Amino acid sequence: MLLGRDVRKDFPILNVKVNGKPLVYLDSAASSQKPNAVLESYCRFCEQRYSNVHRGIHTLGEAATGDYEAARGSIAEFIQAPALEGVIFTRGTPESINLVAHSYGKKFVKHGQSIVLTPMEHHANLVPWQLVAKFVGAELRFIPMKSDGTLDLAEARKLIDKTTAMVAVTHASNVLGTINPVGEIVELAHKVGAKAVIDGAQAVPHMPVNLREMNPDFYSFSGHKMLGPTGIGVLYGRPEILNDMDPFLTGGEMIREVYLDHATWNDLPYKFEAGTPAIAEAIGLHAAVRYLQEIGMERIAQMDHYLTTHALEKLASEPDIALYGPLSQRGAVTSFNVKGIHPHDLAALLDREGIAIRAGHHCCQPLMRWLDVQATARASFYLYNTADDVAALIEGVRTARKVLA
Ligand code: ALA
Repeated sequence: MLLGRDVRKDFPILNVKVNGKPLVYLDSAASSQKPNAVLESYCRFCEQRYSNVHRGIHTLGEAATGDYEAARGSIAEFIQAPALEGVIFTRGTPESINLVAHSYGKKFVKHGQSIVLTPMEHHANLVPWQLVAKFVGAELRFIPMKSDGTLDLAEARKLIDKTTAMVAVTHASNVLGTINPVGEIVELAHKVGAKAVIDGAQAVPHMPVNLREMNPDFYSFSGHKMLGPTGIGVLYGRPEILNDMDPFLTGGEMIREVYLDHATWNDLPYKFEAGTPAIAEAIGLHAAVRYLQEIGMERIAQMDHYLTTHALEKLASEPDIALYGPLSQRGAVTSFNVKGIHPHDLAALLDREGIAIRAGHHCCQPLMRWLDVQATARASFYLYNTADDVAALIEGVRTARKVLA
């Protein structure tokens, strides 16, 4: 498993020293680092081809439009999107889900219907549905979790019923690492005529995702967690549904004709891309997708699995450590607590050693209540991490115990 070492040279930030120590970056679930290929592509575009898109009848305008649309095409292929016009650029996962909640949920979910979620949702895939439920008078239901942090599908089969309008579930939990059987959940939703929205923010960077097979109605993810720039994300939506929805944001680019008292909408996907989009960021995301494809998503998933299993084994062999989430079928995050040490103190002490982890509620407060903790420490891995990083984490935890416990 040499992947981590092979690719580290591509990530300039990994040579940076933090607090005088070599950086050990274990916070990719919050945001990933960027390889030279992405940085160079972003800069080259700004230096040589930058212009607004879909507007200028000039050479740079056409070059930028071509590059922007090529990015869309490549991303569509990366996730095996059934229709190119369903691939909408947004600013990230929260905007993607808010778009669906606002433009689909508030229009099509009816009073008395149910919206089915899980207790492991990131706030970004929970709070928008709370607002929809309040707005239309719908009921929120939650698929229960088993003690290992996996979903109880038998209960899901009962909860998703003829009252259900939407099922909104994360593909991979950013705290527990649980990879949910989203294909099966989409099927359960479709059986009762409900729509399925999948939050893929922690899945697309780490595993092959095939929307043709999964068949969701909506699927969202963010560029910055998959080696791309910040401020760019994607919503895939089924074109026939997107066509029936009202726009989310209005302004330039998303209109066809505007009169003083009304307007008509542009074709998909532009109907949902109001204003000047994140052009250079989309080009950077294209470079990220190419980089990931060259390595291969299967290989990345294997490396993640190896590192996560290794970290879980090492952490489990330390005294007084609570580990959260299932033992198998999980993504590249390990959440844990060291008895007697607040995760914030642990993170601050590890930072002194140049080790970056995340500590807190991870935007999952209901899940923290379910775990009966205030917060957890979380080490998350990506293709540039190695077993040495896991060793540094374990050493850091031992030092923290000596200093803090
Ligand atoms: N959702 C991101 C995380 O889990 C920010 O850290």
